[in-house]
Amino acid sequence: MQADLFGVAYPPGLAALRGFALAEAEALLAVIGQVSAVAPFRNMVTPGGHAMSAAMTNAGLGWVTDRKGYRYTAEDPESGARWPDLPEVLVGLGARAGAAAGFAGFTPDGCLINRYDVGAKMGLHQDINEGDMSAPIVSVSLGAPAVFLFGGLKRSDPVMKIVVEHGDVVVWGGPARLAYHGVMPVKAGVRYNLTLRKAL
Ligand code: SIN
Ligand code: FE2
Repeated sequence: MQADLFGVAYPPGLAALRGFALAEAEALLAVIGQVSAVAPFRNMVTPGGHAMSAAMTNAGLGWVTDRKGYRYTAEDPESGARWPDLPEVLVGLGARAGAAAGFAGFTPDGCLINRYDVGAKMGLHQDINEGDMSAPIVSVSLGAPAVFLFGGLKRSDPVMKIVVEHGDVVVWGGPARLAYHGVMPVKAGVRYNLTLRKAL
């Protein structure tokens, strides 16, 4: 059984696949470079009017936030053009990681790409904008390490700390699909995260 920094057992539906994406890491960083050359990283604004500290872009169906709310779009609101296509390398990695974590048949249709510079973080939240909650979330960590926070179905539930390093993949679905999660401030370097989703 997998356990967090303090020996707390992972809840059903959560898996950390250590180094699962390591062999592909350079190719994934190249994809990030290609996507962000077309759809640059930007600090999106929450409906409450706060700029997010993580910079974001997307491939495939794209998650966006602005004063109007959180949603998926086919187009980049900054350019009006479609988000870059979701590269096959990401579809394949998502499918293999999903299957390895017990979610056979997962096929992502979108990828949110987060960039965390020093001090950037992500507050506890649930991923609830996707249309198909039977599909898991596959989260790929690249670059600098970070502490990933994973809680329960209520914001007030206890949160476990999972160190995520370059090449690690975390998958959550099934009974853990709507768990609160977040990222503690990155201490040094730059961290990238790819979250592969089934948006529709
Ligand atoms: C997210 O919840 O979208 C990002 C998670 C991460 O950066 O590890
Ligand atoms: Fe999330």
